[in-house]
Order: sequence, then structure tokens, then C-alpha cells
Amino acid sequence: MKDTLSMTGIGIERLSFYVPEHYVSLETLAKRHGIDPAKFSRGIGQDQIAMPGHDEDIVTLAAEAARPVIDAVGGEDIDTILLATETGIDQSKAAGVYVHHLLGLGPNCRIVEMKHACYAATAAIQLACGHVARKPWAKVLVIATDVSRYDLDSSAEATQGCGAVAMIISGAPKVMEIDTVSGCFTEDIMDFWRPNYRKTPLVDGKYSALKYMNALANAWSDYQDNGGREFTSFSKFCYHLPFTRLGVKAHRHLCSLNESQAQESHFADGMTYNRKVGNCYTASLYLSLISTLETSDEDLSGKSIGLFSYGSGAVAEFFSGVVQPGYKDQLESNRHAALLDDRVALSYDEYVNVWHAPDPHDGGDVDIPKAARGQYRLARINEHKRIYERI
Ligand code: CAA
Repeated sequence: MKDTLSMTGIGIERLSFYVPEHYVSLETLAKRHGIDPAKFSRGIGQDQIAMPGHDEDIVTLAAEAARPVIDAVGGEDIDTILLATETGIDQSKAAGVYVHHLLGLGPNCRIVEMKHACYAATAAIQLACGHVARKPWAKVLVIATDVSRYDLDSSAEATQGCGAVAMIISGAPKVMEIDTVSGCFTEDIMDFWRPNYRKTPLVDGKYSALKYMNALANAWSDYQDNGGREFTSFSKFCYHLPFTRLGVKAHRHLCSLNESQAQESHFADGMTYNRKVGNCYTASLYLSLISTLETSDEDLSGKSIGLFSYGSGAVAEFFSGVVQPGYKDQLESNRHAALLDDRVALSYDEYVNVWHAPDPHDGGDVDIPKAARGQYRLARINEHKRIYERI
């Protein structure tokens, strides 16, 4: 049985992101490698890499992203937290439990951590919509949080980054109602993966980009087969952006499949924040959505947005939503602009130092010096336990 493009009245009620205080300019990296900075700024379309301090990780980033959202909508009706990440800090305990505690939410809450490379947050959103359809009073806190880290001096080094996006999915979708129709595509491939014994992923960069394009074509085709919106009805497109140049190529590819000319106005706003943050894996598509909503000069009320989610390995999904009247009142535009503007650039040596996060395999007693600018930090690792604090 096929979906129908019905309006369910379910979607994103509120959303917010967080990025740490420190970043590395890709000019610094270009200098280190003795290459033309334009390779990064134009060739891959990135300017900066957000870097977490030693007392910041997916938990603190997630809590920082979620705090303003909880402050705005209240925590009482949140009965589920779905935390999506591919930078897990524990093989068993769900990172969302730490976040739930830091946010001071009530105990009658279901929490689970979800993983599928950069795709998991999209799965979380779809599951959250299903949950709200069953329990219309419920709100689900979906958090996408990741630290993208590649080996120093590798070709993927320039595509690092980090950040978190928190979203409330509910029956009051004041920002964007999510369509029931979506298109999926799965293929068992090895384009990017991280075995349990490795801190950094293995990646076949060129192959992954090719596979991304193939997945886009297939997910779009499935979206159309399922009764999705027509290509020409979209005002904006948001893509998973490991680096923004890939999104530009993806949009051209989608346009050519639909015998249409690519227009920058359809995707460029969705790249403004990502250029400054870098890849934040499963959060990156939703950072692009926030960037679109917050930096576009147009009033997007009533307009359709197409979203393409890709997780290496690989699962992809094309889905869509309609921006709601009054959405601007739900955004954290000023706070986000300040987060991006008030940052400190690291020298190359400082970056290398920050890159080597503490990793006490003996479970040792490590006090972590304060670096985080936010409210939450990883204060200590003791007896293999991570101890977080609210500053
Ligand atoms: N001025 C302007 N452009 C320049 C330039 C210059 N001086 N020098 C080079 N370039 C261009 C190149 O022509 C090239 O453009 P095209 O791709 O359009 O040909 C671009 O800059 C990159 O140059 P290279 O291909 O030589 O770069 P590289 O070998 O260093 O690798 C990369 C780039 C493959 C993206 C690498 O950074 C990488 O592997 N990144 C991680 C993998 C990744 O993000 N894959 C994306 C899909 S997988 C996914 O989505 C999951 C995920 O999040 C990881």
C-alpha cells in the first residue's frame, strides 16, 4: 500500500543548534599542508571546522542544543528522547540518559540512542512522528549530535566539524509540518565506517560521493513513486552536507534528473551555517534546515522544503515538509548568530592539542580543565565513568 500526501498536523515545533567556541580556519590547515586555500573554500566549499574542547562531547553539545528548546516549550509533555549519533561515548549506556539528567526532565520518559551514520536523526524524526500520531499529546525530543573527526594530515581532515541540533516533534508543528510521504533507499556498501576499535573512521571519499549521488536518485525516485510533491513545487532543498560542495553537486544532479536548471536560491541559504561549522554528521542536514529558515530573506510560510538525508553504509531518505506561518517566532536566530560570531580561532598547534581528546583506557582519574563556554561540561572521568556537570 502507498502513502498519501496527507497533512497529519505533526512536525517540528521548535529547533535549535549548538556549536562550541573554538574552530580551526581551513586557511590554517591549507598553510600547514602547503596548498591553495581555494581548494577548501571553493573546491569543497568549507571555511571552518568547529572543534569541541576536552570537556565537550556529544552529551554536552546535545544538552546545550536542547536547553533553549526545553525552556521555550517546557519539558512536561516530553515522554521520549531519541538521541541520534555516530560518535557514541559508550557501547551500552545511552548518551540521552546523561542529557535527560542534565536537562532536569522528569523520570517518566523513554530514552534511546540511535545509530546509522549520518542518517539516524532522520529515522528518529520519522519514528517520532509515528509516536505522536499514536499519542497526540506527546512531545518527542529528537537530538542529533556528533563530532566528525578524521586522522590528522588525511585528505578527509578538512571535512571535520561538530555540533548538535535539538528538535521537538509534536502535534503543534509551529516550524514545519512533515509530510507522510518519503522515499528510501538502502544499499550494503563500505564507503565510510568506523570499527569498534578505531577512534576515527575509514573512508573512501570519492566512492562515498558517487554513492551519495546514486542514493539521491533512488530515494527521489521512491519519493515520487510514493506520491510525493512535484519537483517544481519546492521552494528550498536541504541536503546532508559533509561539505557544502557536495550539496551543490547533489542539487545539480537532482535538477538534471528532473530536466530542470539548478538555481542557487533553492539551496544556498542552507549552506551558510554549514560552511562555518563543518561536518556534524547526523546533525548536518538539520543544521542546513536551520540555516535555510534563519538566513533566507524570503518569507517561507506555506512553502515546501525537500530534505535529503544520507548515512554511509548506506541508507538514504528524501522527505518533505511545509513551513508554517509564524515560524520565524519559533527560531533562535539571534542566539545562533551570536554562537557562530563569538568564536575563537585555534592555531595549528592548539588544534592538534584539542584534537587529541583525553582517552583514559585504564579508566583513570582525570580532571578535565574547563574550556566549554556553555552551561554543561564533562568535568571528570573516574573509574570508567564520565561525570558531567552544569556550570
Ligand atoms: N581551487 C579550487 N578548487 C580546487 C583547488 C583549488 N586550488 N584544488 C582542488 N580543487 C577542487 C578539486 O578539483 C575537487 O573538486 P571536484 O571534486 O569538483 O573535482 C575538490 O577541490 C576536492 O579536491 P580533491 O578531490 O583533490 O580532494 P581530496 O582528495 O583532498 O578529497 C574529499 C576531498 C574526498 C571530500 C575528502 O575530504 C574526504 O574523503 N572527505 C570525507 C568523505 C566525505 O565527506 N564523503 C561525503 C559522502 S559520505 C557522507 O556523506 C557521510 C559523511 O558525512 C562522511
